[in-house]
Amino acid sequence: MMVRNKSRNVPPKASAMTEALRGLGYTAAGALADIIDNSISASADQVQLLFFWDGPASRIVVVDNGQGMDDAELERAMRFGERSPLDARTAQDLGRFGLGLKTASFSQCRRLTVASRKGGETHCLRWDLDVLAASEDGGWHLLEGPDSGVEPILGLLNATSSGTLVLWELLDRLVPSGFAEQDFLDLMDKIEGHLAMVFHRFLGGDCPRLNLTINGRPVAPWDPFLASHPATWSSPVDRLAVDLGTIEVQCHVLPHKDRLSAHEYLSCAGPDGWTAQQGFYVYRNERLLGACRDEKIRYVESTTYGQSAVSFGL
Ligand SMILES: Nc1ncnc2c1ncn2[C@@H]1O[C@H](COP(=O)(O)OP(=O)(O)O)[C@@H](O)[C@H]1O
Ligand SMILES: [Mg+2]
Repeated sequence: MMVRNKSRNVPPKASAMTEALRGLGYTAAGALADIIDNSISASADQVQLLFFWDGPASRIVVVDNGQGMDDAELERAMRFGERSPLDARTAQDLGRFGLGLKTASFSQCRRLTVASRKGGETHCLRWDLDVLAASEDGGWHLLEGPDSGVEPILGLLNATSSGTLVLWELLDRLVPSGFAEQDFLDLMDKIEGHLAMVFHRFLGGDCPRLNLTINGRPVAPWDPFLASHPATWSSPVDRLAVDLGTIEVQCHVLPHKDRLSAHEYLSCAGPDGWTAQQGFYVYRNERLLGACRDEKIRYVESTTYGQSAVSFGL
């Protein structure tokens, strides 16, 4: 006997769903790191971060020179849940859930505009949470083109033959009421420190794979293991084969304070200082996912599959 499942199509209401997805617990720095992950996955070797302070009308732009997207690819990129976590990914893809671009952006802003250039053409699509909230049908109204007044920002893409620009506007979470310009500048410093750490393996080494700038200034890598310092001791790399790939484990002992100059001692302390920065550092495809520095894991931004490296900093 054939069992027939009678069904109803019950899509989520766009405004309710998008508001709910705003609370996934991103920090501003973690959200930007997710946007930069996408640029790296798209083979970009240059990523510019631009912060424009203008009170509640402040904006943040991320521009990369990656492979870009055509119109259909851009529409898929803007769609929530277009790719399943079960889908196969290329080895350099840092994505996983098919949600990061949207959830990371909406954790900080109410309007997300993405413009992408590929094959000499630029396409632009936009989500606006206020437009979704005002819509009576609960539909997923993806808007075409930029909001008025931001065309000059989109012009930044003209400098590259292919690439993608992500624009965050209506930064209600990143610029809460009462936020002053100095708070914005302090947040920029915090974001720089976080990105310098998360992407240090892309930003450093003899032949850096990523040139990341914030308002035109290059972000210098911050290596938790001081690998280039002659007084650092590093163990051989241990390779553990597991079902999903290989885990590389390495142990580092950092130099005693007496072996460091005053400048080195200050600059190597890391965002949280010498004592707090010791612990376990977990990487996936060279990207720092998180650090376990005392009793709990901090700033883990995504769970991981595939090839990973674990480094123990002591
Ligand atoms: N900067 C970018 N350049 C090219 N393609 C991008 C970029 N950002 C996002 N995309 C595309 O959009 C898709 C969705 O991105 P995202 O929501 O972050 O999910 P995920 O990274 O898990 O796939 C990516 O898989 C990629 O195909
Ligand atoms: Mg992603």
